[in-house]
Amino acid sequence: MTTPVKIAPSILSADFARLGEEVRALDAAGADYIHVDVMDGHFVPNLTIGPGVVKALRPHSKKPFDVHLMVTPPDQFIESFVAAGADILTIHVEAGPHLDRSLQLIRSLGRRAGVSLNPATPEQDLAYVLDKVDLILVMSVNPGFGGQHFIPSALDKIARVRSMIGDRKIEIEVDGGVDSANAHKLVAAGATVLVAGSAVFRTQDYAANIAALR
Ligand code: DX5
Ligand code: ZN
Repeated sequence: MTTPVKIAPSILSADFARLGEEVRALDAAGADYIHVDVMDGHFVPNLTIGPGVVKALRPHSKKPFDVHLMVTPPDQFIESFVAAGADILTIHVEAGPHLDRSLQLIRSLGRRAGVSLNPATPEQDLAYVLDKVDLILVMSVNPGFGGQHFIPSALDKIARVRSMIGDRKIEIEVDGGVDSANAHKLVAAGATVLVAGSAVFRTQDYAANIAALR
């Protein structure tokens, strides 16, 4: 039996004035993970959420908080996001000089370690850390903003990552421009977690929008 795809709504598209309520609504609507986009205004040209907001949101859902760190360098913030309640911490290959060390730090704190590839970054950059990651996040837009168009080369990259990981228990997550029209192709290529901002917050009926992605 194949495992059903997980849906990780990105709160980047939520109403920031009502974030707690929005997280509760996503939880009730069947989200598998709550995807939190952390941007530093340096690695990406936008600023979003820090550990204080993650901590404030933590009581609003028991679902895993999937924290996507678009931050360079990431190491200095990992402990504070763990303390705030992050379950999965995903760092970018491009964001720091010592990927292996950063991944070890996340696991040493008892959390799941994710690593992300920008659209222009080849999957071969992960060859020597495959035994240190729990999740690989394939970016299908250039990170920084919600609502961008899906970059089609991500589909092949997912398939290549899928064959590269072999029988390791590593989740393959895809983020950016995911919608009900491309979701099935992404899953067929090997994605096990779909991040979606615009597609989930498109209308008030989050449950229907999440269901449409499955
Ligand atoms: C982009 C973020 C994404 C983004 C997805 O930098 O990592 O999580 O919010 O938004 P959509 O689904 O609207 O492309
Ligand atoms: Zn993201």
